Order: sequence, then C-alpha cells, then structure tokens
Amino acid sequence: MVLVTGGAGYIGSHTIIALDEAGYDFVVFDNFCNSSKESITRVENIIDKKIKVIEGDIRDAKALQSVFDTYKIDSVIHFAGLKAVGESVEKPLKYYDYNVNGTVVLCDAMSKNGVKKIVFSSSATVYGDPATTPITEDFPLSATNPYGRSKLMIEEILRDIYVSDNSWKVVLLRYFNPVGAHESGTIGEDPNGIPNNLMPFIAQTAVGKRDVLSVFGDDYDTKDGSGVRDYIHVVDLADGHVKALNKIDGFDEVMSINLGTGNGYSVIEMVKAFERASGKKVPYKTAPRRSGDIATCFADPSYAKDILGWVATKGVDQMCEDSWRWQSNNPNGYAKS
Ligand code: NAD
Ligand code: UD1
Repeated sequence: MVLVTGGAGYIGSHTIIALDEAGYDFVVFDNFCNSSKESITRVENIIDKKIKVIEGDIRDAKALQSVFDTYKIDSVIHFAGLKAVGESVEKPLKYYDYNVNGTVVLCDAMSKNGVKKIVFSSSATVYGDPATTPITEDFPLSATNPYGRSKLMIEEILRDIYVSDNSWKVVLLRYFNPVGAHESGTIGEDPNGIPNNLMPFIAQTAVGKRDVLSVFGDDYDTKDGSGVRDYIHVVDLADGHVKALNKIDGFDEVMSINLGTGNGYSVIEMVKAFERASGKKVPYKTAPRRSGDIATCFADPSYAKDILGWVATKGVDQMCEDSWRWQSNNPNGYAKS
C-alpha cells in the first residue's frame, strides 16, 4: 500500500485519483493545515470508493507509527509540507520544522518499519536563477528563500540516506508550475486568502473575486517583458507520480527528474489563454517586479520521457479550461458558500 502524505492537498488529491486508476491501494495521511476534508469527499465521488484517511502530522512520530502498524505500507509519496514563499521568509523556523523536520521524522518512521521507497515533491525552485533555459537536471542547485532551501535540504537528506543504505529507492520530482484541475471541475487549487501564484489569481479575477491582476514586471528580457514559466497540468503531474512508482524498483541511484512541459508561456500569454477559455475579461495592470522572481524558467523534460516514459499531454488551453471549470463551479473553493 502507498502512504500519501499531504494527499488531501492540491497535487495530492489529483495524484490519489491517478493511483486509484492505476490499481494502487493507498492511505492518505494529512493534518489538513492547508486543505479540507471536503477534497477527500469529492475524490471519493470521482473514484466511487471510500478513501482511507488518517488525520495526523508528519512531525508526530507516534501518529506515523500507528499508520505503519495499521497498514502494510511499501512506499511513500511525500507531498506534506508548506509552500508559500513569502510566508517562509517571515517564518523560516516554521518552514524548516514542517518541511525539513517533518521529512526527517517521516524517513525515520519509514526506516524503523523497513519501508525504503519514497517519491518526494521537489520543485524547480531548486535551480535558483538558472543561467540558461531549458533546465536539465544537472544544472547547479541553489535557493533564494527558506522554502526553496527546505526543498534543497530535503533533497540532500534523501541523498545522504541513500548513501548510508543504498537499498533505499528515492525519486525527487522537480515540478515546474502546476496549474489546472481535474476535468470534473469538483477538485482544484483552493488557496487561503489572496493567491500568491498566478493562475489562481487569474481565475479569481475572471470570476469577479479580484478586481485586477498585477503583472509583476514588464521589462524582463522575454517575449513581451513579463515573466515566462513552464505551466504543467496537475493531472499530467499526477500521472508522473504513478510512472515514478511503477519504475522505482529498477532505480539504483537517487533519481532527480523534472516534471514540466518544456514550453514557456508569459504572464500575458496566460491571461489571454484564460480569457479564451473562460470567455471572461481578466483586467490587468503592470506592477513592479516581485522580489525574488526570475525572468524565465522552463524545463527540459526529456529525462522524464527516457526514464519514466512520461510526457505532459495537456496544453495551456486545457489547463485554463479546467481551472475555469473548477473556479466557476466553486467560486469559494471547498468552503460551502
Ligand atoms: P498543498 O498545500 O495543497 O498540499 C500539501 C498538503 O500537506 C496539505 O493537504 C496540507 O494540509 C498537508 N500538510 C502540510 N503540512 C503537514 C504536516 N506537517 N503533516 C501532515 N500534513 C501536512 O500543496 P500542493 O500544491 O499540493 O503541494 C504539494 C507538495 O508539492 C508540497 O510539498 C509543495 O512544496 C510541492 N510543490 C508544490 C508546487 C506548487 O506550485 N503547488 C510546486 C513545486 C513543489
Ligand atoms: C512561485 C514560487 C516558487 C515555486 C513556484 C511553484 C515565488 C517567488 N516563487 O514561483 O518558489 O516553486 O511558485 O509553486 O513565489 N505573477 C504576476 N502576478 C501575480 C502572480 C504572479 O505577474 O499576481 C507572475 C510572476 O511574476 C511569474 C509568473 O506570474 O512571472 C508565475 O508566478 P507564480 O505562479 O507565483 O510562480 P513562480 O514565480 O514561478
């Protein structure tokens, strides 16, 4: 059985659907600090099955032990953690506690229970400000904020664990910019408060919850001056986790793998794509650059294709259509309006 930490969250909830479709049995472990039990109920409706869920914190060794005592776990997909860059600058200790300490407690519990396979949610943020694009997995790694540093530290901790015992199987999936939602429109990204990330902000502007999008910077050295990113549909991303699990037994080194499409889109291009998909206007204005932002970031995804047989299949139009279906059907996210 697969233990999915953070399985109630945005990427986790989409991944458990993919696991179910692929025939994997799983149990979700989540403290719901950034998600809602409603997401689990919605996934149950999609897969027409009850989901095993344990409410608990990955920093709580006893709670984790009870999961290993109750279920025969043979691998872990580890999503649980905090992800808001700005908050991580304000509260670094919280981020190191949840992300780094949480992973240490989790790996210790795995080790004590003889479970040695882990797929970890890393991020393209570990490439810092890349010298060139597209980004391959051998690019130098760096971090510019505590969130990014926590991801780098976890990658290094997992590499050290492998060095100490090379019967571990470790896959570090470096996500580019996850967007979109399940095609049912019943699950999706539900950020607390004002969204920091572009796509939820665009979606909330289109639905009328926000007045105007601020485009952070119009003088980057990019096609139209706004920032360029590799947006990847969350359903493609979910499939990448299943493909990683399918192959994990065959790996005899720590695998770092980019999950991106290989295509870069600017902020303005994303606004236009969203307007096409939604039929709504997304008013925007130029604002100063956001501190810490880089001009351009997109993946070379060829390693994922070679190693996992994985390629992203969904383009920006589908990403926007699916985000819009989720946003327009659930203007208040999972909260009952
Ligand atoms: P999310 O916040 O929606 O999901 C994370 C889940 O983990 C939530 O359900 C939350 O309640 C849970 N959680 C947090 N701390 C926990 C703890 N101590 N114990 C138990 N559960 C805990 O985020 P997401 O977008 O689904 O991201 C999942 C993972 O992917 C995170 O590790 C994130 O850093 C990483 N990631 C996300 C993105 C992105 O843009 N969404 C990009 C790169 C990497
Ligand atoms: C952010 C995080 C990064 C994380 C990534 C994926 C920051 C500084 N970085 O990166 O660590 O790995 O998400 O989760 O938060 N934009 C606007 N207006 C907005 C919001 C964003 O113009 O209101 C622009 C940004 O300047 C950027 C692009 O949209 O060019 C994408 O922004 P965002 O969705 O926040 O992702 P990243 O900046 O790639």
